[in-house]
Amino acid sequence: MSDWIDARVHEVKNWTDTLFSLRIKAPICPFIAGQFTKIALELEGKRIQRAYSYVNAPNDEILEFYLTTVADGKLSPYLHILKPGQNLLITKNACGSFILSSIPKCKNLWMLSTGTAIGPYLSILQYGKNLDRFEKIVLVHAVRYATDLSFSSLIKTLQNKYIGKLYFQTIISREKLPGSLYGRIPDLIINGKLEETVKLKINSDGGHVMLCGNPGMVHETQQLLKNSRGMKINLKNNPGHITSENYW
Ligand SMILES: Cc1cc2nc3c(=O)[nH]c(=O)nc-3n(C[C@H](O)[C@H](O)[C@H](O)COP(=O)(O)OP(=O)(O)OC[C@H]3O[C@@H](n4cnc5c(N)ncnc54)[C@H](O)[C@@H]3O)c2cc1C
Ligand SMILES: NC(=O)c1ccc[n+]([C@@H]2O[C@H](COP(=O)([O-])OP(=O)(O)OC[C@H]3O[C@@H](n4cnc5c(N)ncnc54)[C@H](OP(=O)(O)O)[C@@H]3O)[C@@H](O)[C@H]2O)c1
Repeated sequence: MSDWIDARVHEVKNWTDTLFSLRIKAPICPFIAGQFTKIALELEGKRIQRAYSYVNAPNDEILEFYLTTVADGKLSPYLHILKPGQNLLITKNACGSFILSSIPKCKNLWMLSTGTAIGPYLSILQYGKNLDRFEKIVLVHAVRYATDLSFSSLIKTLQNKYIGKLYFQTIISREKLPGSLYGRIPDLIINGKLEETVKLKINSDGGHVMLCGNPGMVHETQQLLKNSRGMKINLKNNPGHITSENYW
C-alpha cells in the first residue's frame, strides 16, 4: 500500500499552454534517478492518483515533474492550475527500474523519449553519477512542435558538462526546424537519418537503448530494434539491449 504524504507547491512553471513543470516540496524518502512516484489530489471527495517521473536529481531539495495537460484528463488539468503554497499528495517512496543500475555493461547509451518522457533522463543526467561507464550518451527528444522542446537551457548546460560524451538530438513531427530531424523515432531509425546525424550506429555490439514515453513509439521501436538490429529486451534475469518505460 502506498504511503501518502503532504506536499506543497513551490512553483508551476509554464513552458507552453499545455506543458508545465510542477515544482514541489515534500519530505520523501530517497529515490533513484530515473524513477517515478505517484501524485494525487482529492477531487470531489475522490483521490485521483497518477504516476510521474522525477526530473530533478535525487539530492535536490525541490522536486520537479514535467507534465502535459491532457485535454479532459482526470488529474493533469487540476495539477496545472495549482498555485504556490497549495497542497497535494505524493507517495513517500518512488518506484521503477528505469535506472542506470538496470543497464548491463555497454559503451553507448541511447536515451530516446517522446514528449514529457524526457524527464527521467534529465534526472539521471543532472545527478551525473555512474555516467563514467559510458563512452557516449545520445539524448533524443521527439515532440510534435518546436515549442514543445522545453529544457533547452538545462540541456545546453549538461552538454557543456559532458562535452564529448553527451549528444542531443531533437526530432519534430509536425513542422520543420533547422537542426532538428523531421518525423518520428522509428521512421528515422529505418531511414538511417538519426544515426547519420548523430554519427553513431545503434547495434547490439556495445549499444543499449532506453525508450520512454508514448507506448506506440516504445512498441514500434522495440520491434524494429529486435528485428533489424539483433537487440534483445533487457530483463532482470536475462540481460538485453533495450530498456523501456511506457507512460500509459
Ligand atoms: C511510469 C509512468 C510515469 C509517468 N510519468 C509522467 C510524467 O513524468 N509526465 C507526464 O506528463 N505524464 C507521466 N505519466 C502519465 C501520467 O501518469 C498520466 O497518465 C497523465 O498525467 C494523464 O493523466 P490524466 O488523469 O490527466 O489523464 P487520463 O484521464 O488518465 O487520460 C489518459 C490519456 O492521456 C494521454 N496521456 C497520458 N499521459 C500522457 C503524456 N505524458 N503525454 C501525452 N499523453 C498522455 C493518453 O492518451 C492516455 O490514454 C507517467 C505514466 C507512467 C505509467
Ligand atoms: N504538443 C501539443 O502541442 C499539444 C497541444 C494540445 C494538447 N496536447 C496534449 O498533450 C497530449 C500529448 O501530446 P504530446 O505531443 O506531448 O505527446 P505525444 O502525442 O506522445 O507525441 C510526442 C511525439 O511522439 C510521436 N509519436 C506518437 N505516436 C508515435 C508512435 N506510434 N511512434 C513513434 N512516435 C510517435 C508524435 O508524433 P506525431 O506528431 O506524428 O503523432 C510526437 O512527435 C495530447 O493527448 C494532448 O492532451 C499537446
